[in-house]
Amino acid sequence: MAGRLAKASDEKESADLIVREVLRLEKMLTDILSFSKKTTICYTPCNISEIVKDALAVVRPSLEEKGIRVTTRFPRKIEALLGDCQQLKQVFINLFFNGQEAMKNGGELAIRVGTSTIDGQKAVAVKVRDTGGGIPLETLHHIFNPFYTTKDTGTGLGLPIANRIITNHCGKIHINNRPGIGVEFSVVVPIQN
Ligand SMILES: Nc1ncnc2c1ncn2[C@@H]1O[C@H](COP(=O)(O)OP(=O)(O)O)[C@@H](O)[C@H]1O
Ligand SMILES: [Mg+2]
Repeated sequence: MAGRLAKASDEKESADLIVREVLRLEKMLTDILSFSKKTTICYTPCNISEIVKDALAVVRPSLEEKGIRVTTRFPRKIEALLGDCQQLKQVFINLFFNGQEAMKNGGELAIRVGTSTIDGQKAVAVKVRDTGGGIPLETLHHIFNPFYTTKDTGTGLGLPIANRIITNHCGKIHINNRPGIGVEFSVVVPIQN
């Protein structure tokens, strides 16, 4: 658009400004994300079930307001995971909010905590499944890009930040997308990294 507008017009000036500012914000975010590398993780033993419960407590009021049913499954006992509890909590808050935003007319958010393996190491796995219709195939490959959003008031930062936090914990986020039905995000984090 900036390239097509007449030179020295107000519109051209505004379009150029938007382009410059978006690039600046993108760079700033890249810097912020790369800044939050391993060194800034405060490693302590974390109970993943407690982290998920804390995150759920943050989102629960607005889930209830939207008529979204929450089902949970926690293991009776789970090994402590070495990580940054506050950052990990943010991951689940972001995923729960995305689920809620996908279920405008109510639905079900199913949360399951369990164990798994990653690269042959013991790991915890948290599955977050919604009934919000899933992600259209043409947008699926964009969802971890900073500032990519399909929402009027979205920031497009929820998933890139979640992904960065999990990567810094040597973990992975898997997506099981069922277009028309819903999506399941699986967060797998090694217990010791
Ligand atoms: N549970 C979900 N169901 C459907 N689409 C989703 C879900 N989670 C994420 N998305 C898609 O990924 C995009 C990026 O998500 P995110 O990074 O959290 O940014 P935001 O929520 O601000 O849009 C969303 O705009 C949406 O299109
Ligand atoms: Mg989000």
